[in-house]
Amino acid sequence: MIPTLIDPVAQTVAAGPVTIDRGIPMLHRLLQAAAQIQLADRELPYGRYLLHADPEGRFNLQLDVFSRGYVGGIHAHRTWGLFFIFRGALYVDDYNEVDGKVIHARSSFMGAGGGQFFCPPQADWHRVATRPDGPQVVSVHIYGQGFDMDVGEALNGEGQVRSYRRGAFGDPKHLENFWSYR
Ligand SMILES: [Fe+2]
Repeated sequence: MIPTLIDPVAQTVAAGPVTIDRGIPMLHRLLQAAAQIQLADRELPYGRYLLHADPEGRFNLQLDVFSRGYVGGIHAHRTWGLFFIFRGALYVDDYNEVDGKVIHARSSFMGAGGGQFFCPPQADWHRVATRPDGPQVVSVHIYGQGFDMDVGEALNGEGQVRSYRRGAFGDPKHLENFWSYR
């Protein structure tokens, strides 16, 4: 799994700055690669797992496993990023930052095989939620240079930006034999 998901990103960042125009084709390549990967029929402890960190700090890959009925806060990444879904589905709300205000742009329901690319200022702010039942959501998240692995930015109830501490990475041993190629 790892090489087929790293290569499209490594090649894109090596060729120059990642923009919306270059990120969307990269996402398409990743979705094609992800379609060749089959997950084992078991659940993982929820949380995030670090799959790969570029030695030059240009990007990282994380596996996010969501609990059922999860409702996340509106948060930003301050760098380009993307996510796609291996299993289950996400509700996604996207926001654009316009004149210093965070404005709702769209809401969508994304199922397995779906993905989204974002790049500030386009839809850097977003939030995701999961359904209360159904398959456990397993997704991949890739973030560009400058992503803070430990501290994130989110909006509080008054619309003010606050920083929060991200959870620790899960033990990679849970991922052993979790995927195979079709
Ligand atoms: Fe996010």
